[in-house]
Amino acid sequence: MPAELVQDLAVMTRIAFSLVALVLAFSAAAVDLTDAQRAEIEERIHPVGEVCLQGDTDCGGAAASVASGPRSGEDVYNSACMACHATGAGGAPVVGDIAAWADRIAKGTEALHLAGVNGVPGTGMIAKGGCMSCSDEEIHAAVDYMVAGSQ
Ligand code: HEC
Repeated sequence: MPAELVQDLAVMTRIAFSLVALVLAFSAAAVDLTDAQRAEIEERIHPVGEVCLQGDTDCGGAAASVASGPRSGEDVYNSACMACHATGAGGAPVVGDIAAWADRIAKGTEALHLAGVNGVPGTGMIAKGGCMSCSDEEIHAAVDYMVAGSQ
């Protein structure tokens, strides 16, 4: 073992023993404290910071922010649908391509909403376009947004 390492270990051992001795000394002394002394010590050594969980107003935290409501159809489209519906990937009808959408729009809003949520079996149109965190309402809004831009 290199000499410094041996020395370091010796120092660390000594520190460790001193700590143990210190803790023992304190715990022995603690037995004789009065409640007032104990309270005083607790006050002196109480942590500087306190963990205040979000939404816990007891400790001065702000009330939990209310979920900011559903994402707009445009937001959902941009994050979950555009990859296919802006490019036509996998045969997806491109938003803005009126001819590609005419027959689909003719099926009615409800059918398109259902297709958005459940997908179109056997095609690249997977359920919710793969956006599993999207609510049905958000998918409906995205479909409406796509339809509005394609007629
Ligand atoms: C991985 C590619 C892909 C993604 C992502 C995708 N789509 Fe599609 N989508 C398709 C394809 C391919 C079709 C055409 C299916 C077919 O042949 O009828 C389609 C068709 C549709 C249709 C028409 C269905 C019908 O019955 O005519 C709607 C509505 C639609 N998608 C909505 C969405 C929405 C909303 C999203 C995002 C939440 C989305 N799509 C994301 C590939 C995708």
